[in-house]
Amino acid sequence: MQRDIGKEFMAASNYPPETQTDEQKGLPKPGNPDDPAGPDKITFKLPSPEDTVYSSHSLSCGSESSDGSKGSDSSCGSQSPEVSGGSKEHLTLFEILRTRRSVRRYSAEEISAECLSYLLWASCGVSGDSDEFRTAPSAGAIHPVETYISVQNCSWLPVKNGIWRYHPTTHELSLISEGTDAVAGLGRACMMQPQVLRAPVVFFWTAKPYRAVWKYGTRVYRDIFLDAGHICQNLYLAGVDAGIGVCAINAFADEAVKAILHLPEDETVVYAATCGHKRQ
Ligand SMILES: Cc1cc2nc3c(=O)[nH]c(=O)nc-3n(C[C@H](O)[C@H](O)[C@H](O)COP(=O)(O)O)c2cc1C
Repeated sequence: MQRDIGKEFMAASNYPPETQTDEQKGLPKPGNPDDPAGPDKITFKLPSPEDTVYSSHSLSCGSESSDGSKGSDSSCGSQSPEVSGGSKEHLTLFEILRTRRSVRRYSAEEISAECLSYLLWASCGVSGDSDEFRTAPSAGAIHPVETYISVQNCSWLPVKNGIWRYHPTTHELSLISEGTDAVAGLGRACMMQPQVLRAPVVFFWTAKPYRAVWKYGTRVYRDIFLDAGHICQNLYLAGVDAGIGVCAINAFADEAVKAILHLPEDETVVYAATCGHKRQ
């Protein structure tokens, strides 16, 4: 039988690692290849809000099919939540990029329905004519990454504590499990990181690699993680826009998270992120 290096890689990179890292072994830290800069260099002026390059330009975002050909031009933002979760003060993309930071300390304030809707849509929601076209790009428009959220102490959802799955096509959540045990279990599975234990909402991204392997072979194991990275970055940026702090999480016990999310054997956890109002 042919080796499946994708599956081997996923198994070999489970957390926590079985062997000591080179840092733990006391090996010296490798240098940054950019440092020091070589003689042939161009030093750019750092961007500032006064620069005109970020000022508004005409919106023209006709969809392209996954092979790159141009499709209908009518889909610009054709699907988006009716209400924006954006904070009252409108931030430019420049300000959002400049102020984005990982936020790990959250207040007790819950995330509103309007705001959660915005975060879900902005991270991976459908924005075009079909579910191939979403707020995050995806190799081959396959979108193998799925979103689950763990929610605690929520007053407006039908259950106060629970785990939900997001359905981008319909912009809906479906309940996976209810109760504090599963939510607390995810906190433990994320190595008891305090921000995971306290966050009102934690995103977990999973993937069924075969959906992408089927089309492109095992190279797509790279694409899956890149796709998840785009989604998480969207969440970070939308979080700044909506006044919500976000922290990416990749330190989790894969099999424990998988069991709590009730994932089938062929679905694997790839990434996570905590969200909450920043504690002042
Ligand atoms: C792939 C990835 C995994 C990360 N995993 C964790 C994590 O498990 N726990 C955590 O507290 N922060 C985690 N972070 C956040 C980084 O620590 C953070 O991005 C970094 O310190 C730089 O800070 P900044 O995001 O505020 O610029 C992760 C970030 C990335 C991109």
